[in-house]
Amino acid sequence: MEFNQRSIISIRDFSREEIEFVVGKALEVKQGRWHDALSGKVLASLFFEPSTRTRLSFDAAMVSMGGRVVGFADAGVSSTKKGESLADTIRTVTGYCDVIAMRHPVEGAARLASEVAGVPVINAGDGANQHPTQTFLDLFTIHEEFGRLDGLKVGMLGDLKYGRTVHSLAKALSLFEVEQVFISPPSLRMPEGIIEELRQGGTAFQEVEEIDQVQGALDVLYVTRIQKERFADFQEYERVAGAYRLGHRELSALGGQCRVMHPLPRVDEIKPEVDSGGNAIYFRQAHNGIPTRQALLGLVTGTIS
Ligand code: NCD
Repeated sequence: MEFNQRSIISIRDFSREEIEFVVGKALEVKQGRWHDALSGKVLASLFFEPSTRTRLSFDAAMVSMGGRVVGFADAGVSSTKKGESLADTIRTVTGYCDVIAMRHPVEGAARLASEVAGVPVINAGDGANQHPTQTFLDLFTIHEEFGRLDGLKVGMLGDLKYGRTVHSLAKALSLFEVEQVFISPPSLRMPEGIIEELRQGGTAFQEVEEIDQVQGALDVLYVTRIQKERFADFQEYERVAGAYRLGHRELSALGGQCRVMHPLPRVDEIKPEVDSGGNAIYFRQAHNGIPTRQALLGLVTGTIS
């Protein structure tokens, strides 16, 4: 399995076997193997869009394995502000680091960056398109919880139109024997292109508007935030804001046992009452960003194999 010097742009670029390999490496890392594997390596962390977890977990992943980090968390302090193109920024930064993690508001920006960079580029989110490292940590978390991915039933709730995490997750889960249930307002359905890919691949899925319409019990409910910043029309946002508020009542309609995940940040789509129950695994999920990103950073820099 060849990962050395490979960019991580879209989950579509990975086979089932490769995904299982990354999940396995993340487990080895979490168990304490590969200690200091990133020693001497430098990550350039280029965040042109807001982030808490993704950026800080990339930083912490690097530093706690002996590596170092340069970069910016606000495009306003970079030369983008002076009119520099993304391609020129990337060509320059290539000379300062061993790997780049980049978040950018434009779909396709990460792919473009990988074409001009001389080092691997890891997509930390490109607009509403893809967020592959989030998916790796989501799959790692589900695997940690159930010991498998096959045979599960996974619901995704909220903004399935603009949510890049669910675009990547739905595509990845379609490589496994997973039944998918999409729960969203009609205006925020999973994009037709992804639905079509699932159909062609023979994935079992269902689309509904309300939690109460889900048939049978779910193993996992993956909740998402309505992506306010992606709406062209604020009134359209206001019509769907607050569409779902998951609490104990809704959880019992889903069989009561389902694990609740969320890429975070949450706004109001999960009530605080859920946090302390046994269903909530979203903070552990966020913490799994560390071993998963350590595994990925090690694999693409050739220090983990
Ligand atoms: C997500 C993102 O940026 O797409 N956050 C994250 O990386 N954990 C989800 C979101 O912003 O709603």
